[in-house]
Amino acid sequence: MPEMMEIYKKHASEYDELVRAEDYRGHLRSFLRQTIDWNGKIICEAGIGTGRVTRFYIDLARRVYGFDRELHMLDRCRRNLSDYRDKLVLETGLNEKQISIPEPADIFVEGWSFGHTISERHHEIVSFLPALLNRVQSLLRRTGTIILIETLGTNVSYPVPPTKELVDFYRLLEERHGFQRHVIETDYRFGSRDEAARVMGFFFGDEMRYSVKSGGQSIILEYTGVWIKRLSKGDKNGHQRVDHSDAV
Ligand SMILES: C[S@@+](CC[C@H](N)C(=O)[O-])C[C@H]1O[C@@H](n2cnc3c(N)ncnc32)[C@H](O)[C@@H]1O
Repeated sequence: MPEMMEIYKKHASEYDELVRAEDYRGHLRSFLRQTIDWNGKIICEAGIGTGRVTRFYIDLARRVYGFDRELHMLDRCRRNLSDYRDKLVLETGLNEKQISIPEPADIFVEGWSFGHTISERHHEIVSFLPALLNRVQSLLRRTGTIILIETLGTNVSYPVPPTKELVDFYRLLEERHGFQRHVIETDYRFGSRDEAARVMGFFFGDEMRYSVKSGGQSIILEYTGVWIKRLSKGDKNGHQRVDHSDAV
C-alpha cells in the first residue's frame, strides 16, 4: 500500500475512485453553490488534485487557475475537466511558495491540501500560517473570498479534527485569522463492504481497512469543515499586499 504522498504522484485513478464515492448526498457541492456566488468569477484553486472540488463550481466560473505539486494529479484533472478546457489553466505550484496568476482572483479555494502542508510545517505554524494566508490574500481582489476545505474526521460518528496539528490549524484560522467554520456531512457510499474496505484502505491505510471491514458498512461516515473568510476593502490583515491595481 503506497504512502499518501505517493498516491498523489502515481495513483490518481485510485484517488478518483475514492472521491467519487465521497459525499454521496452532494452536501458539500450544494453548500458551496448556495453559500458562494461563483457566477462569472475568477477562481484560484491550490492543491487542485484531480479536480473534485473544481467540478462543483467550474460551470459557473469565468476562469479557473489551478495548481498542484504533482503533474500526475494535474494530468488527471485536465482529463476529468476536459469539457471546460477553455476556462481552465493548470500549472504546478507549491503551497509553500508564492504562486502567480495573471489577473486578481475573486475567490481562492483549496480542498484537503493546506492541511497536509500545515501538518508538515506544524513546528513553525505560528509564523507559517500567516505567511501562507498572506500569499493567498495577495492573489485576491480586496473584496475576495477565501475558502479552505479540510477534514473533520473519516469513519467517525461526530466531527472532530483527527490530529493535533489540525486542531491547531483550525483554532488559529478561527481565533486569529477571522475564518468561520461550517460543518458538512460528506459520507461515502460504496457498492459493498468489501469495496469500501479496499478503496478506503488504499488511501487511509490498513487500520482504516480493518475498521471498515469489521464495521460491515458500505456507508462510511465523514465530516468536512469549510472555513470561509470574506475580505473587505479595509482588510490589510497587517500584511504587505501585492498590487493588482483592481479598482474595486
Ligand atoms: C487530498 S488531495 C486533494 C485534492 C483535491 N483538492 C480534492 O479535493 O480532491 C491533496 C492534494 O494536494 C496536493 N499537495 C500536497 N502537498 C502539496 C504542496 N505542498 N503543494 C501543492 N500541492 C500539494 C497533492 O498533490 C494532492 O493533489
